[in-house]
Amino acid sequence: MSSQDTPQTSAGGSANDRVIIFDTTLRDGEQCPGASMTLDEKLQVAEVLDTMGVDVIEAGFPIASQGDFESVHEIAKRAKQAVIAGLSRASFKDIDRCAEAIKPAERRRIHTFISTSPIHMKHKLKMEPEAVLEAVIASVSRARGHVDDVEWSCEDGTRTDFEFLCRCVEGAINAGATTINIPDTVGYTTPEEYADLFRRVREAVPNADKAVFSVHCHDDLGMAVANSLAGIVGGARQIECTINGIGERAGNAALEELVMAIRTRNDVLPYFTNVDTTMLTRASKLVSAVTSFPVQYNKAIVGRNAFAHESGIHQDGMLKNNQTYEIMTPESVGVKSTSLVMGKHSGRHAFREKLKELGYELGDNALLDAFTRFKNLADRKKVVYDEDIEALIDDEILASYDRIQVVALTVIAGTSGPQRATLTLDIDGRHETREASGNGPVDATFNAIHAMVPHEAKLSLYQVHAVTEGTDAQAEVTVKLESAGRQFNGRGADPDTLVASARAYVHALNRLMSLRDRLHSQHSTATSA
Ligand code: KIV
Ligand code: ZN
Repeated sequence: MSSQDTPQTSAGGSANDRVIIFDTTLRDGEQCPGASMTLDEKLQVAEVLDTMGVDVIEAGFPIASQGDFESVHEIAKRAKQAVIAGLSRASFKDIDRCAEAIKPAERRRIHTFISTSPIHMKHKLKMEPEAVLEAVIASVSRARGHVDDVEWSCEDGTRTDFEFLCRCVEGAINAGATTINIPDTVGYTTPEEYADLFRRVREAVPNADKAVFSVHCHDDLGMAVANSLAGIVGGARQIECTINGIGERAGNAALEELVMAIRTRNDVLPYFTNVDTTMLTRASKLVSAVTSFPVQYNKAIVGRNAFAHESGIHQDGMLKNNQTYEIMTPESVGVKSTSLVMGKHSGRHAFREKLKELGYELGDNALLDAFTRFKNLADRKKVVYDEDIEALIDDEILASYDRIQVVALTVIAGTSGPQRATLTLDIDGRHETREASGNGPVDATFNAIHAMVPHEAKLSLYQVHAVTEGTDAQAEVTVKLESAGRQFNGRGADPDTLVASARAYVHALNRLMSLRDRLHSQHSTATSA
């Protein structure tokens, strides 16, 4: 094993070196514009986080909506190892609702917060500092009435007056908070300043040793990961982060970067986490797929170029010894060397084994559908890579809950227009076919969808990328539809870009309709009650 592959373990490290990973992809991540996920998607993400060894999963903000409550509740029911946390403001109504949502979880946490900076207290809360301090004590006490594990956060902590911050922290710990989170809500701090803040607070607050301190950093100045690590050096032992760094504005600190920094630079960051790093790529791909937020090509750890060596000098060095330009191996983050998948003669058993290797476990019906699509793909594409299978399965999983499915598409394209599309959709089990023309084949295809499923949503994003190299590569299309101020993402994959486009559009439309159905049924229940 090369030195880059040496797994960082707890061996030799004391319990005090253990860093708790608190993932907030499903709360702070999901909260950012355009990243909303359906219940099924949240369940998939939660399952991956739980399996990969994340310690705490912040599953949502239960008071925010009925949908949020339900997803937190469902995740709480299914969690196997992780602590399930729900967020609440300082009000008793929020806290009680949160307690109800996380109830089914074996290990549960209430995370309650209030702003403590002068600007937030004055303009947002319109509260005097003393009233905020009272609210801190009352909210934490209320939460402790429900659970033993209570986290308290001072929103905009890094812009809070130091003396007041210390009084609030002391009050929260006295009231029973077991974790104290000091967020850099606006991404304003710097590494030295943040490390120092934790040192000073832990020194100044008399009961500081009774709680775990936590970092929570936003990336407005591109320092979220550096600040988080500095906070750990300053004495914090929990990091709040998200997969791919998604989150409000410029995002949160990226989980994969933090975990790999601790593992790779263990000489200067002598800590350890419980995360199975070989699942990082899988988690990144899943979050990207369900949010339709692409991962930038040069993104650290999980970008598609993170382990690519293009220049001749680098390639030469790598061939001689991979440690010349590689500080960690692709395998350590779950990137498998691109491997040839079975061809068109492969059987279902081999296909199931391949899926297992890639981390998918499908039921019999879903397996059969995926296998049929795989055969189809193998017939049309010279070489089928792992990435092709992953795109196909993600597409299959995403579409499996949809009421509307793409059945067939024929397009007439070329220089002499108008371009025409003939599309067949399965709508609630009934096949319907329409022909439409448009300004190009994509437009014609989308017009055919519109003719069968009339809607007022606007197309706000249409994006295509190739899953692998070569002209026969599968196209992965992302579509965003906007309706009444909300965004609905859709994704589709196919060697034919137009089929992938139709799938992506229909997928986004399904999400829009499923939200409408949910709102409609809530409204009917409310009016009949
Ligand atoms: O950024 C922030 O301050 C937050 C809190 C709610 C923890 O997300
Ligand atoms: Zn935040």
